Parts: sequence; structure tokens; C-alpha cells
Amino acid sequence: MSESKSGPTGPDLTLGVAVDSLADGQMIGGHVGDDAVLLARRGSDFFAIGATCTHYNGPLAEGLLVDDTVRCPWHHACFSLRTGEALHAPAISAVACWTTEARNGKVYVKEKVERAPHRRVAPASDKPGRIVIVGGGAAGFAAAEMLRRQGFEGSVTMLSDDHAPPVDRPNLSKDYLAGTAPEEWVPLRDASWYAEQNIDLRVDTSVSTIDPGARNVTLADGATIGYDKLLLATGAEPVRLPLPGMDLPHVHTLRTFADSRAIIAQAETAKSALVMGASFIGLEVAASLRARGVDVHVVAPDKRPMERVLGGGFGDFIRALHEEHGVVFHLEQTASAIDADRVTLANGKTIAARLVVVGVGVRPRLQLAQAAGLALDRGVRVDEYLQASAPGLYAVGDIARWPDRHSGAPIRVEHWVVAERQGQVAALNMLGAGQRFDAVPFFWSQHYDVPINYVGHAEGWDDTTIDGDIGKRDCVVRYRKNGRVLAVASIYRDVESLQAEVAMEREAA
Ligand SMILES: Cc1cc2nc3c(=O)[nH]c(=O)nc-3n(C[C@H](O)[C@H](O)[C@H](O)COP(=O)(O)OP(=O)(O)OC[C@H]3O[C@@H](n4cnc5c(N)ncnc54)[C@H](O)[C@@H]3O)c2cc1C
Ligand code: FES
Repeated sequence: MSESKSGPTGPDLTLGVAVDSLADGQMIGGHVGDDAVLLARRGSDFFAIGATCTHYNGPLAEGLLVDDTVRCPWHHACFSLRTGEALHAPAISAVACWTTEARNGKVYVKEKVERAPHRRVAPASDKPGRIVIVGGGAAGFAAAEMLRRQGFEGSVTMLSDDHAPPVDRPNLSKDYLAGTAPEEWVPLRDASWYAEQNIDLRVDTSVSTIDPGARNVTLADGATIGYDKLLLATGAEPVRLPLPGMDLPHVHTLRTFADSRAIIAQAETAKSALVMGASFIGLEVAASLRARGVDVHVVAPDKRPMERVLGGGFGDFIRALHEEHGVVFHLEQTASAIDADRVTLANGKTIAARLVVVGVGVRPRLQLAQAAGLALDRGVRVDEYLQASAPGLYAVGDIARWPDRHSGAPIRVEHWVVAERQGQVAALNMLGAGQRFDAVPFFWSQHYDVPINYVGHAEGWDDTTIDGDIGKRDCVVRYRKNGRVLAVASIYRDVESLQAEVAMEREAA
């Protein structure tokens, strides 16, 4: 995450911009007073909206205009040029809007105005009265927010067995863990927001069963809550290894705010850490611990980090990048035992470690779905509207396997943006929108100052092409199968990443 610290730059848009200097489909960044503003042209229409993404302050003027929307270059949020609404996560809050006026060959940005979000569902008397959301993570939060954004007036109850209200989970292994993001950046919203929105958020509340026939859920304390529509968004839990010493207090997995805090507390005294797993979370943890000055060893059975998802070229680059920052890899190796001050590897070698983080993957939390008799397929099987096999019951996020239009296969992924967008679409569908979930999967990962963006989904490929140079941190890698691009990974090629996303969306439409 980065924040723009300097004030707005570019022309003062209140003084006008020559109409001819802005071609159809073009945008420029400028300012109105202290506000960074983006001015865009679509045909003879001009739009002015806030130029700073409400997710992590990405510069929207460096993104991509698509129809009457703009997409953020950093993590692909999508904003309406007409209303400023954050149409697609990861941004949730709208940007401001200004009126524009074209006069005497110039276009002027005028007053700031409030614009209501577009209502994507018609008000209807048969709307569900009671919506229950099981899960207070990415998908559950985005769904609750969308229900209220659309003007749903019935009850929204969000049940989470986590102690914390919904948090920015990706931050837990990145800036927050590295010590560069303050505590207050982690919650997605303040506690007061839930009250203002009349969302009954109940944390520390575990759901033990769902009865789709009776349409109710039973909590661990025996209480039951009835629903008209239910959203199941129970996410995933870290895999624990069956190793001697796994239960020692200095051994951690990372999923929750509390996990991240516990690792930080330990990192304050531990001089050496061992991370098990060389995929996204393991290596983000390694980078964050290095930022805290902790010696880091990474142990993983893989030949190269992240090779399974990103291929060998990226794997070698990621390894070299982490080595430059002092990480020591023990690849094609596993741990056999953990002690209070060291870890023993399968080859007999011991590594000093007062902090151990196990990041070897997650397992979807399917127990509730299974016990409720929902159709499963290595995840909860949902249709293109994200509806599960029981009436009125939707499943989203890390647990959901949906028919992905681009790859043409049922897929389940563990991506923040996908979970949020699925939560948003399921919310609309609970209100009767009948909207297909057709977003192309997207994820990002951050290692030191290197962001990796990935669009699409490729479980295997027979060919990759590299445009640019991975080692120089300037590349687009395309993963193809039978000549078709399934996925695109990139470093510092944000517009190309957005263009690839749009191309995949159009191909699948
Ligand atoms: C440290 C970390 C970093 C990540 N970084 C990235 C990243 O950079 N990019 C990316 O794309 N993805 C990232 N991810 C993955 C991303 O966070 C997940 O894909 C996303 O959170 C999934 O959302 P979800 O709503 O399905 O599940 P979650 O966010 O896990 O939420 C599930 C919720 O369900 C609750 N729950 C489960 N069972 C019950 C029950 N029985 N009763 C009550 N409540 C229950 C949990 O307490 C939790 O509140 C990261 C994940 C982690 C852990
Ligand atoms: S900063 Fe815009 S989507 Fe993340």
C-alpha cells in the first residue's frame, strides 16, 4: 500500500481545459482547490470525479477508462464516471463528483455535487425481510454494504466467529505486519458504521448449524435466528502441519487480526524467524519480518517460490528479490520438528528460530455447508448467480466453486477482490437483480516495493510469453493453453493488466 502524500498536481480544472485537447475516451488528472480531480470525455459528455481511489489511494488518472467507468491501476477497482460510485471492489466508498460545463471551446469543472448510487434493483414489495450473513470477512462485509447501498430496509445480521469486526485481511501480511500501516487502517469500517447502517454485526458468534428447510441458523449458544435469504461466506482457515512442536506458543498461522498482532508481538523480541511455505502469504510474511529487522529463513518443498501459480521465471525472480533482502531459502526441504529455539529440517539441519510462521495454504471452511446438505464440489457448488443448492441460500468467497465464464470451468479461488465482488453480486441477487457473476478473477501480491498483479485463472498452461523483463520489474507474462490466454501476470504494467482484464471480460461475454 502507498499513500499519495503530496498535494494534487496538474492543471487547475476550474480554469478550463481546451475541449480539443481531450479526445473521446481520454482523461486527464488535475485539481480543484485541494482535491485531485479526474476529467474524462465520453463522446460529447465530460465527467469530473475524484482522482484518488478510495481503496489505497491509487491514481485513477493512470488507470483505464472503460465505457462510462474508470478502473484503478493498482487493484482494479471500478468507479462510475456518472456518480462516482465504487461499482466493483476492492474500493467500497464512492469518490466525489463535480459538475462540468463546456463553453467557448473549453470545458470547466464547476461545483462538487452529491450523486446517489445507481439503484440496480427495483424497489419491490416481495424483497426478503431478513437477511443473515454467516461470515464477517471480505465477502460478508461487501454483501452487507451493498444491501444497504441499494436501499434494502430489512434486517441484516452478520455473524462472525472472529473477535474483530471485518478487517482488511490482505494488509495483515503486508504493511500492517511490516509496521508501515497503523492499526486504524486495518478495520474495513469503524464500529459506529455498522450501527449507522443498521447492520447487526455479532462478533465472537459461532454458527453451529444451518437448517435450509426451516430457514434458520443455530448459534453455538443454542439460539436460533430465522432468515429469508442467507449468505454463506465462511472463508478458509490455515492448514496446520502434523509436526511435533506445532502447538508451541511461538508457532503461528496467519488469518486474523489477532494472528497478525501475535506475530508482531513475537517479532519485537525474536531475532530470527522461520517461515514454512514459499507461496504468497509465507513470502509476504518473510518480507514484512525483514522490514522489522528479523532474520528470516524460508523452508518449503517447492523447487522455486510461487512456481505453481506464476511459473519458473517469476519463481526465480521472487527468490532473488527476497535473497537481496536477506531472506535465506531452504527449498525442496521440509521441517520435521519445532522446538522453542530451533526448527529441525528433514535433512537433519537445524535452524535457530524464536518465531515460526506456518503459511502452507488454507482449507475452505465447509463444515456448515456440508452438515446443511448443500451440494459440494471441493467447495460449495454455486450457479452463475452464486446460489447454492438450497433455495434462498447463496455462497461466496473462498468457499464457493462457481462456473467461471472466462475459463469455462467451475473454479474456486482464494482472492480478496473475488470474494468482495461475489459478496456484492450475491447481495444484488438476494434482492432480485438476477445478475450473473462474470468478473474475471484478479489478485495482487506485494513483496517489498514490487507489486504483482494477476488477472484470469490458469491452473496449467502449455506456453508463456514474456513481454518486458521480469528481472527488471517491468513485465507482462501471458499464460496460454491451446493458444488462448488464460491469465496475465504483470509488474508495473498496470494499464496492460487492466486491458487484459477487459479483453477477458469481453471474450467471456
Ligand atoms: C494474511 C492474508 C493476506 C492475504 N492477501 C491477499 C492479497 O494480497 N490478495 C488477495 O487477492 N487475497 C489475499 N488474501 C486472501 C483473501 O483475504 C481471502 O481470499 C478473502 O478474505 C476471502 O474472503 P471470505 O469472505 O471468503 O473469507 P474471510 O475473509 O476469511 O471471512 C470468513 C469469515 O467467516 C467467519 N466464519 C467462518 N466460519 C464461521 C462460523 N461457523 N460461524 C461464524 N462465523 C464463521 C470467519 O470468522 C470470518 O469472519 C489474503 C489472506 C490472508 C489471510
Ligand atoms: S488503490 Fe485502487 S483498487 Fe487498490
